[in-house]
Amino acid sequence: MTFNGSRSSEEGGGARRWPFAQPDIDGAIDDYAQLAAVYDYETRWIDSVRSSAIAMLAPQPGETVADIACGTGFCLPALSRAVADEGMVIGVEPSEGMMAHALARCAILPNVQLICSPAQIVRLPHAPDALLFSFAHDVLQSRTALENLLSQAKRGARVVALGAKLFPWWLAPRNLWFLAGERGYITTYRGLARPWRLLAGYLHEVKVRPLAPGNKFILTGRVPGAAGPALAPSDPYPQANDGSAHAIS
Ligand SMILES: C[S@@+](CC[C@H](N)C(=O)[O-])C[C@H]1O[C@@H](n2cnc3c(N)ncnc32)[C@H](O)[C@@H]1O
Repeated sequence: MTFNGSRSSEEGGGARRWPFAQPDIDGAIDDYAQLAAVYDYETRWIDSVRSSAIAMLAPQPGETVADIACGTGFCLPALSRAVADEGMVIGVEPSEGMMAHALARCAILPNVQLICSPAQIVRLPHAPDALLFSFAHDVLQSRTALENLLSQAKRGARVVALGAKLFPWWLAPRNLWFLAGERGYITTYRGLARPWRLLAGYLHEVKVRPLAPGNKFILTGRVPGAAGPALAPSDPYPQANDGSAHAIS
């Protein structure tokens, strides 16, 4: 495993954000500094669904796979096994606290490279054949992050995104509990009804399905191939300051 710490030093921390505002990179780094030690234990109930997402991504020997917002690295060992010695796994994560756990987890995995950076500005060392977004809500709400990542992927690259979403309207009372629970893990409630919507606008062959009990989703799709159009999102949001100015000089 190799490690490339490329995060900017602009993180400041500060007042708690209004949860319907744009994604907040500094806020996420602050939150996950606190969460890192307990994250794996507190999220063990999503281990199986994360494994299902990896299976749907179908990483192959020799491929380069990017795990965006890899956190403590739960998905990295399985991805590493799948791409085998001739492949490469790139984990991208801005929180040094979370990254420390990923580093420990992948210490003996030579084909894993970890980059401590927000997705908005990361430079991937190889063009990915496949990208995984596992519970990466803040990234999915950032047009800057998605354009940065997808423009570095191979044409036709496979994409799987797994995450939390609001319950459907007929289970609406459960959303009070849901929103309270999510507050520690995401910095914006924006887009929670259809968190995949911005990403889907960049992809072809998009399929989205809800997962039981109704507050999770999984998206599969592809970066447009050689015959498809260049990146051309159908952006559901106005031009947004999504924190992407962070660390961009
Ligand atoms: C809920 S955790 C998911 C971690 C891991 N993918 C998993 O499945 O357990 C969300 C992660 O997104 C990361 N994150 C937040 N903002 C980000 C950004 N702008 N770029 C990349 N990662 C980000 C957080 O630091 C955190 O590790």
